Amino acid sequence: MKTACIVLAAGLGKRMNSDLPKVLHNICGIPMLQSVLNSVRKLNPERIVVVAGGHIGKIKESIQSPGVLFALQPRARGTGDAVRCALPVIGDFNGDVLVLNGDTPLVRPDTIRKFLRLHRRDGNALSVLSFTAADPSAYGRIVRDSSGGIEAIVEDRDADPRQKEIREVNSGLYAVRRDALALVGRIKLNRAKGEYYLTDIVSAALRRKMKTSAYPIGTEEEFMGVNTKEELRRAAETMRRRIVASWTKKGVDFLDAGSVFIHHDASIGRDTVIYPNVHIEGRTKIGKKSTVYPNVRIVDSEIGREAVIKDSTLIENSRVGDRASVGPFAHIRPGSEIGRQAKIGNFVELKKTILGTNTKASHLSYLGDAKIGSGVNIGAGTITCNYDGARKHVTRIEDDVFIGSDSQLVAPVRVGKGSYVGAGSTITEDVPAGALAIGRARQKNIRGWVRKRSKGRVIDVNKKGKDKKD
Ligand code: UD1
Ligand code: CA
Repeated sequence: MKTACIVLAAGLGKRMNSDLPKVLHNICGIPMLQSVLNSVRKLNPERIVVVAGGHIGKIKESIQSPGVLFALQPRARGTGDAVRCALPVIGDFNGDVLVLNGDTPLVRPDTIRKFLRLHRRDGNALSVLSFTAADPSAYGRIVRDSSGGIEAIVEDRDADPRQKEIREVNSGLYAVRRDALALVGRIKLNRAKGEYYLTDIVSAALRRKMKTSAYPIGTEEEFMGVNTKEELRRAAETMRRRIVASWTKKGVDFLDAGSVFIHHDASIGRDTVIYPNVHIEGRTKIGKKSTVYPNVRIVDSEIGREAVIKDSTLIENSRVGDRASVGPFAHIRPGSEIGRQAKIGNFVELKKTILGTNTKASHLSYLGDAKIGSGVNIGAGTITCNYDGARKHVTRIEDDVFIGSDSQLVAPVRVGKGSYVGAGSTITEDVPAGALAIGRARQKNIRGWVRKRSKGRVIDVNKKGKDKKD
């Protein structure tokens, strides 16, 4: 049978105390609404409709879900009203409609599938998934009759003292036959809250003798609703643990599973070792048998196999080749490519720089807008002067070049293949292949200078003929 989905995302989310729409709050690198949509997509529904409110533009641009349809709920007048707003977009679809909250990011596709099977097995018009909550006060209570059938869902603010005792609660996940879904048009305004409650569809269906059940197959871990930042933090922690556990299963070693943060869209090869306090963000891909030492953050980057990323390193939008080594304390800024077996050492910053195989920049350098060949040695303290105050320029260093320590390469400039640059040079002109370039002031030795100073006759080397007491 066919399935369609409605995801509710038009609430005001006041309890978040935030400028960001609630469903766009981030959990392990993606908005929580995206998380819900990712789960729902796995069921291959025929149609997915997201109901959004005033933030619809922002939501559309933040969500990556091709084919998803949007419905506007002009004013947040409750979950029942939200579903009503989705009906024109659901249109003539004929089958079961799943309704989910956009603030339930931990929901798993398997659970939704199981729920849908029960709904169909029992031939229900309406099914609700429920779970037992430790503290049920944030949820609608499932009120059952003497024979155990569902009678109603009662929100906390409307519950009497006996109903408040009930710990079986509404997850916000419903399966509704298309004809029963039309009942949202019949829901009455809840005067206490000034909203149309979707939960009232249960009594509406029962009044019409439509077969309705609540299935207590959920867990609080999976169906916790995120209404506050405290709940957001808890949901993010659950998701974080799930992701680390799934990579562990795929053969990644974590020294401290409790302090590693991996985004949804990142991936890690087997036998890679991850030390504590590592953040692997965005669409980062790490190859097999690599090592990531403590306090490293890697964003949207590709790391090869058997690479080593040493302590306290930040890598953004870049590529690191197989068996390369980066860090400790390195900053690899966007657009950089580090070749195979290359070495980037401590306090080295790269920006939009390409570095060939076996090239080394081991200490204290800034290499920006540089194209560096293979087998190059960049001495300690080397700087590419890529910015003239108005524009950026490129430094080209060909294969097998040796750049002496503390050199500045004033771009645009080219250092030819196999050439040497003497330490402390300021290179402003191209260096031909195979040459030695030295660009620094010649050294001057002033003989006897120390002895003369101790007699009070220090010669000021800048002012001719005048002695100076220190
Ligand atoms: C809702 C349910 C409650 C259930 C809980 C599960 C109702 C009345 N209550 O409560 O029984 O236990 O979810 O998490 O349905 N939304 C709209 N438009 C609106 C209002 C809300 O689209 O006008 C969206 C929100 O963006 C959110 C979802 O609907 O994603 C649920 O709304 P929320 O206000 O969080 O409902 P709860 O109080 O959590
Ligand atoms: Ca909620």
